[in-house]
Amino acid sequence: MFSTPFLDLPPLVAAAGTVQLPGSKSISNRVLLLAALASGTTTVHDLLDSDDTRVMLDALVQLGCGVRRDGGTTRIEGLGGQLGVASAALFLGNAGTAMRPLTAALALLGGEFELSGVPRMHERPIGDLVDALTQFGCRIDYLGNPGFPPLLIHPVDHGALALDTPIRVRGDVSSQFLTALLLALPIAATRDIVIEVMGELISKPYIEITLNLLARFGIVVRRDGWERFTIPAGSRYRSPGDIHVEADASSASYFIALGAIATSAATPSGVVTPLRIEGVGADSIQGDIRFVEAARQMGADITSGANWLEARRGAWPLKAIDLDANHIPDAAMTLAIMALYADGPSTLRNIASWRVKETDRIDAMANELQKLGATVETGPDFIRIHPLPPSAWRAASIHTYDDHRVAMCFSLAAFNPDRIAVRILDPRCVAKTFPDYFETLFSVVRAAEVPVICIDGPTASGKGTLAVEVAYRLGYHYLDSGSLYRVTGLAMRRNGLTPEPSCEAQIADMARSLPLSFIEGKVMLAEEDVTDAIRSEAAGMDASRVSALPAVREALSALQKSFQRLPGLVADGRDMGTVIFPDAPLKIYLTASAAHRAERRYKQLISKGISTTLDGLRADLEARDARDSSRSVAPLKPAQDARRLDNSSLSIEQSVDQVLAWWQQTQPFKEA
Ligand code: C5P
Repeated sequence: MFSTPFLDLPPLVAAAGTVQLPGSKSISNRVLLLAALASGTTTVHDLLDSDDTRVMLDALVQLGCGVRRDGGTTRIEGLGGQLGVASAALFLGNAGTAMRPLTAALALLGGEFELSGVPRMHERPIGDLVDALTQFGCRIDYLGNPGFPPLLIHPVDHGALALDTPIRVRGDVSSQFLTALLLALPIAATRDIVIEVMGELISKPYIEITLNLLARFGIVVRRDGWERFTIPAGSRYRSPGDIHVEADASSASYFIALGAIATSAATPSGVVTPLRIEGVGADSIQGDIRFVEAARQMGADITSGANWLEARRGAWPLKAIDLDANHIPDAAMTLAIMALYADGPSTLRNIASWRVKETDRIDAMANELQKLGATVETGPDFIRIHPLPPSAWRAASIHTYDDHRVAMCFSLAAFNPDRIAVRILDPRCVAKTFPDYFETLFSVVRAAEVPVICIDGPTASGKGTLAVEVAYRLGYHYLDSGSLYRVTGLAMRRNGLTPEPSCEAQIADMARSLPLSFIEGKVMLAEEDVTDAIRSEAAGMDASRVSALPAVREALSALQKSFQRLPGLVADGRDMGTVIFPDAPLKIYLTASAAHRAERRYKQLISKGISTTLDGLRADLEARDARDSSRSVAPLKPAQDARRLDNSSLSIEQSVDQVLAWWQQTQPFKEA
């Protein structure tokens, strides 16, 4: 997961491969609540692990429910209608799928409960649900603004519930109100309970998910059109034992769109492969699967099986669309980005619910699309997007409004024909439903050029510290090329070889097939952790000697280049800018006086309890610099286009800021 303040997506050009998507949020949170209400144990397979499901799980644990996670399964010990506590204060983040159903369930289960969330949750309406429950005989107070969380739920008198009169609820603001009632009312169904929907019910497919899952838990709701629902008397939640959560169809929309927008990447054998999505397909019970129809209408070439989808580019440019998107409110945001690549203006209608989601999504999408250069028109319940022709795209920092879907759908703007990078602010917000979204995206896309920042310089100049920190701030990968030479030196000694030209071919062979891996900051040689062993002064000297052998350098070259992966790389060493990544857009040559460097190394070693002398160290590092600078291949020297940074009198923070400032200059983003 990327927790950096921003994530820069370099221009992307192609996509191919297979993605396995995380579980559906809508199904996960409904299943969790139903499993908690049921008697018996439910084993949930492939549950989504995200902010919203964690919020629900935490709440259930607080209510006395037993939860055990075990690899890919989650076991829920149902409460069987009996809460383990009489009161609780539940914090529900920004999870509407937890707030609404828990309000209804707790109002009927009995007890004193405070339900709150993040500030945005306190702006998301819940009045229609509270009204419906209050009419029914539940007692709920608003602790802040009337009509919005936070709420205080009081114990209920089951004898006083108005079982004879239909419960009326509005259906035109959020379908989650009706879902909440459908999920919770079986608690009180000593008689038939009738729910009547007022106004045109929106997002009907989400109600279908609810009905479908209720049936899996033994409750068969009678439905008359979309206006009237009857929960039969004597309904009881029964655990189905095992239940599988299908992959999230809304999350699939980004990858379907990716297939439709990107050209396919050819495999090494020249075969062009589509983008394949596994875990959700034609048999899905999720409404957002109908995004497939909308994407096809725009020209996407999509094939499907029961639980898989494959998407390729069909029509190009995409075809403009005019769509009532009420049935796919979440996935329709993805269409708004596809519209940038269409042959005319696209209109998404009947999407007023966008205004009461994680953020006001109509305004959010319009603002950010305009930053990219697009012309956008909006109204209370529609958005119209004009396509962006080549040369019209602008580099933009996309504000994401703590809304996972804004972050995910704008990543698709990185396929723009102008080869402009896209900056996604607060990329962590995808954790709401898809914590590894960007990693998954990077596993199937190809960039025009993956950016590399090179930090070269002499021994003990602080390259490692600086490079690690810069990589961390940008969410980039990190290559410590010196460690490759150090490990090679270590392996050489263990094999009884010496760093002489006579052993060059053997050492190079060994280097080519080193069983080397970097795991959580540790350097592993096969199963052995050699992190400390390669840091000794003797290992540094050996590294310097083997690195002077041309065949060894050649042998390690491909391995070093393989670190150039999305979203970017910070590489430190001696020849990163001159030999390994000569086209890197930013090269730093880091220096400090020999006296400063010797002193830093001295402090480092003393703090580790290794005895040494300042003079000895200085002599050693000067000898190492002399060899590194005078060797015939890849001698230590600044690349012609490197920026020199003398950090003798700079703090680490100052050096990092300087490098990031230079990096910013090479980037096109203007803060909007
Ligand atoms: O950076 P570090 O001190 O770990 O590097 C150990 C030795 O490896 C250096 O003294 C240098 O001789 C060699 N090296 C190199 N090229 C690199 C990185 C390190 O020659 N890119």
